[in-house]
Amino acid sequence: MEKLGRNDRCWCGSGKKYKQCHYAMDQKIESYALAGHMVPDREMIKNPEQIEGIRESSKINIAVLDYVAEHIKLGMSTEEIDKMVYDKTIELGGIPAPLHYEGFPKSVCTSRNNEVCHGIPSKDIFLLDGDIVNVDVSTIYNGYYSDSSRMFCIGNVNEENKRLVEVAKQAIEVGLSEVQPYHFLGDMGQAIQDYVKKQGYSVVLDFGGHGVGLEFHEEPMITYIGPRKTEMLMVPGMVFTIEPMINAGKPDVLIDEESGWIVYTEDGSMSAQWEVTVLVTEDGYEILTY
Ligand code: MF3
Ligand code: CO
Repeated sequence: MEKLGRNDRCWCGSGKKYKQCHYAMDQKIESYALAGHMVPDREMIKNPEQIEGIRESSKINIAVLDYVAEHIKLGMSTEEIDKMVYDKTIELGGIPAPLHYEGFPKSVCTSRNNEVCHGIPSKDIFLLDGDIVNVDVSTIYNGYYSDSSRMFCIGNVNEENKRLVEVAKQAIEVGLSEVQPYHFLGDMGQAIQDYVKKQGYSVVLDFGGHGVGLEFHEEPMITYIGPRKTEMLMVPGMVFTIEPMINAGKPDVLIDEESGWIVYTEDGSMSAQWEVTVLVTEDGYEILTY
């Protein structure tokens, strides 16, 4: 890493002198690194201008999901959800991040029931009475990325599946309560793992959250295993997603070979997921998307 003098301009692009900007924070981070902890590098710490860009992107991301929430209904095909997401995102000046991302064919992921994530919208897949479906919206606006997903209960969902959806939602709250500067991502991971286990469910280990903002998927990878005091140090300016996938049965998953995308629970059990984008602040966190 480039060594800066205290009177040089800060590396973050704020235009301020280093000593009046990220100097003290860098010293603190360095002390954690020396103690053997994983610490973020500069690309993972966003400056105010970038944060504002991600905030604006997040507003569109939320508006698209709100639009889906208003219009999603029993009998609709998942292709219709895809069209809503595409049209609304474009209308608001954004670009759906999934479209053509590493070959993904659609603008949104729609994952039903035993699908864990990366479900591909199709004109042949309909929302049926009792389905639980995750709609995962990722947005590019003005070059900045935001990412969030919600669960929707279609028609009469049984109590068991309703509880799974609620526990997946609550897992986000449990995770958020651990987001604090100079705590560790492992604190957050452990809290989610403990909570979900206690509810009798499991957390998928093969897929995690991620840094987000300047790219769709940035470092660090966000895991939900813990233990506390491990994984990366959380530092103000970091932006990442919390998006644990919760299975009613075992945590193991299978990837559909034909599409190369759709992820299923191996044991056929139901799966639920919510996702938020969160910013670490000086005294806690700010939720950018929900
Ligand atoms: N939206 C997913 C996430 O939360 C990523 C989907 S990748 C895609 O990280 F290509 F399937 F869109
Ligand atoms: Co994500």
